[in-house]
Amino acid sequence: MYRFALKAYGCQMNVYDGDKMKTALLARGWTEAPEDEADVVILNGCSIRDKSEQKVWSELGRFAPRWGREGRPFVAVTGCIGQNVGAAMASRFPWVRFVSGPRHIGAVPEGLDLLMGCPGEKFFHLDDDPSAFFDISEVPLTRANPWKAFVTITHGCDNFCSYCIVPYVRGRFVSRSPGAILEEVRAFVQDGAREITLLGQNVNSYGKDLSPSFPFSALLRECAVKTGADRLRFVTSHPQDFTPDIVEVMKEHQPVICPSVNLPIQSGSDRMLALMNRKYTLSQYRSTVELLRSALPDLGLTSDLIVGHPGETEEDFARSVDMLREFRFDLVHTAAYSPRKGTAAAEREDQIPPAVKMERLRIVNTLQSAIAGEINASLEGRTFPVLLDDRAPRGEGLLQGRTPSDKVVIVEGGEDLLGRTASVEITRGDNWCLTGKILFLLD
Ligand code: SAH
Ligand code: SF4
Ligand code: F3S
Repeated sequence: MYRFALKAYGCQMNVYDGDKMKTALLARGWTEAPEDEADVVILNGCSIRDKSEQKVWSELGRFAPRWGREGRPFVAVTGCIGQNVGAAMASRFPWVRFVSGPRHIGAVPEGLDLLMGCPGEKFFHLDDDPSAFFDISEVPLTRANPWKAFVTITHGCDNFCSYCIVPYVRGRFVSRSPGAILEEVRAFVQDGAREITLLGQNVNSYGKDLSPSFPFSALLRECAVKTGADRLRFVTSHPQDFTPDIVEVMKEHQPVICPSVNLPIQSGSDRMLALMNRKYTLSQYRSTVELLRSALPDLGLTSDLIVGHPGETEEDFARSVDMLREFRFDLVHTAAYSPRKGTAAAEREDQIPPAVKMERLRIVNTLQSAIAGEINASLEGRTFPVLLDDRAPRGEGLLQGRTPSDKVVIVEGGEDLLGRTASVEITRGDNWCLTGKILFLLD
């Protein structure tokens, strides 16, 4: 039987789609193999920044020697990167023989089967209609971590922020039906998943396109009450749509709905927010944060920030620095603006020189790292229920887990504790993670 290797890059939506493809291929009799033994390598790639695409371009180059010797493996470029530059990859490298967009994952299993029997052919399944869908119906029960599962609840995005490629590669916004989502969450829970994360580019816009409409807060409540999930999380939220009813449901359903929110702000300057087409002001963002923090005292709040968007002056940048000092996020995903072809910001003439962007990135990273370090140090001595969900990346006999607020905690413990929730006392708080000791098991 044929063997495949799959690598997912980018956000959790690509990981989830990768798990779906894996599940469907295994069901057709394929087996998973290390890359150097595979007949097909699937690269489910990301296009959010130039760096994300470069990673896959350089991966592709590595297949040349084995292709020259053995004529295999062939490569399938799928996901957002397939949609954006897959055709260019296929014309440059003979071993790229399958290209598809993220709304065509249903074409992957059969397409790869057919290609195995047709040497020399290439298949292209791009998402020409950004509203159409060719999905895989199987629940992705093959997943990297047995204790955690991700469930996509919305596809695509219609916001067209000035800098962002997502609406062009993921297509139009569409919500999955509440029934399908609940069924999938239940299937994961029955399969042993303890923590479920609901996924979408704007989860809190969920249901606006359904008729009758079905707000995100209602979906959250249903998931909390009707699925048996121990822990629920969701990413990513758009500040424009983070309405008070969501905060209310989070509060009502503690501890099942974890007090953790990723609320990407992108800039601290109202002028830049308007230019980015974000549709909220700093003061509206502040009101949402105040509401969340007053309702959920142990909230973990993270954000995303872009520096060096075209037109960003020193004054605008100073507002972003002030904003980091004001909100004191637990973590911020920072990025230097990367022009994406076809987006509004990439066409602007007031691009910021790379050296200025790098310097601004350095400044915000230094500041945010210090803030995170202070917040984490202040947690020393506190006790949290921690779901032990993995081996720690470094060190024998160490496990890692997450607090309800989504902070990583490293503890000493044997692998028999994986999947259990422990009461953990924090003994040290560093910039990037916490260290703790297990007091007792909670389940
Ligand atoms: N839907 C989410 C984020 C999606 S993309 C939102 O609305 O905020 C994930 C993150 O990548 C963004 O939050 C942004 O910070 C970053 N990003 C997106 N496009 C980018 C670009 N062209 N250059 C640099 N960072 C970018
Ligand atoms: Fe991109 Fe904006 Fe959509 Fe987020 S909301 S995915 S940043 S276009
Ligand atoms: Fe990347 Fe697509 Fe996600 S561009 S960040 S994999 S939606």
